[in-house]
Amino acid sequence: MANVAVIGAQWGDEGKGKVVDWLASRADIVVRFQGGHNAGHTLVVGNQTYKLSLLPSGLVRGKLGIIGNGVVIDPKALLEEIARVRAQGLAVDPGNLRIAENAPLILPVHAALDRARENARGARRIGTTGRGIGPAYEDKVARRAIRVCDLAEPDTLDAKLDELLMHHNALLAGLGAEPFEKAALLAELLALAPQILPFAEPVWQRLDEARRTGRRILFEGAQAVMLDVDHGTYPFVTSSNTVAATAAAGSGIGPSAVGFVLGIAKAYATRVGAGPFPTELHDETGMLLGDRGKEFGTVTGRRRRCGWFDAALVRQAVKVGGIQGLALTKLDVLDGLAELRIGVGYRIGGEIFRHLPAAPGAQAAAEPVYETMEGWCESTRGARSWGELPAQAIKYIRRIEELIETPVTLLSTSPERDDTILMRDPFED
Ligand code: GDP
Ligand code: IMO
Ligand code: MG
Repeated sequence: MANVAVIGAQWGDEGKGKVVDWLASRADIVVRFQGGHNAGHTLVVGNQTYKLSLLPSGLVRGKLGIIGNGVVIDPKALLEEIARVRAQGLAVDPGNLRIAENAPLILPVHAALDRARENARGARRIGTTGRGIGPAYEDKVARRAIRVCDLAEPDTLDAKLDELLMHHNALLAGLGAEPFEKAALLAELLALAPQILPFAEPVWQRLDEARRTGRRILFEGAQAVMLDVDHGTYPFVTSSNTVAATAAAGSGIGPSAVGFVLGIAKAYATRVGAGPFPTELHDETGMLLGDRGKEFGTVTGRRRRCGWFDAALVRQAVKVGGIQGLALTKLDVLDGLAELRIGVGYRIGGEIFRHLPAAPGAQAAAEPVYETMEGWCESTRGARSWGELPAQAIKYIRRIEELIETPVTLLSTSPERDDTILMRDPFED
């Protein structure tokens, strides 16, 4: 298959950035197709650490990066990120970054509404990143979004801001938050326009040409299947579809072009924000995983919740996400643990389930059913070949493959780019 889509198979932060950066050496173009600057992808290359939120991770490899129409773009955040990576020595210009002209924008009003609603939810908050992702997607579906192409038409902007503010200022007032003034927003957008528009184009044309000329496209997912607005642990999800099928609609290419779907999962599990997490650990093992795995949000800085690998959940993600091979990351974090557990199902009200049902009550009540395995005392950190892995680690990987009914085709053993073991090249599958 010529193309590959990389998606998260848990609740995000599986190491998509590292894996996409590594695979990008085999690709020509890297495309973001959903999410926004709620994503935080960390890439470690020698002594440089890149933290990317909106920019496709392939830029670090000098590949062409495309931000598709399925992404919600905060223009200010994008320009700040470009400035940040430029300061680290990366070139970002219209020659290596293209943005879909039909992508919707995130405005300050969206972030304000996101935060006001979270505050109003109190103890029932979702734990969003507060960056306006949900409200921006709502506006897109409600047909009042301001899109990249609108920046070229001041009259369109003016009229659209009227409609947008009529809606949002009423909501903000109801939530006791400050309203926004049209003149200030318009001036801000008009000032940003000349910096954003040089990147804008109908990216579908470029992707079509790339497909026809046999160039390899790598689709970079953000968030993960369990945060998918349909298939995740709703309502504790993000506001976009994160499954691989979205790569097509979110960039303007046919579904057959998406190619091989590589899911990414950690060898354990983490979650940022609120919501069900059946295999969560509240003990010292959970703390140990968090400390060792440096589990602090790239975007939020919050400590991530940690737990055992939930094979029942990853199996579910494999099925709904169309995952054909799994990249297992952070195996090194489990080094030295005497005993490991793998979630294989749930006990809910006396019944055993092999999947997580959709109803929130059932999800909250789900008690994990575990299998226990012996750990390994040797270090796997930095391993670059299968032969360097302890027998017990191989057993753990093999058991995961059986339980999720999918092969593990790539392994990551440290944050560093080259500490990666490839078993099967997804571009050759
Ligand atoms: P993403 O959102 O899926 O791209 O993942 P993040 O970058 O938010 O979080 C993953 C974190 O784990 C980053 O800090 C990576 O540098 C780090 N990481 C990735 N792979 C490995 C690995 O195999 N071992 C260890 N110890 N850290 C890793
Ligand atoms: P990457 O791409 C982990 C979570 C938030 C919150 C929920 C909704 O780095 O894996 P939102 O701001 O999207 O409305 O928040 O989704 N969330 C993520 N968690 N990794 C991410 O991205 C996430 N993006 C959003 O914490 O629980
Ligand atoms: Mg992340």
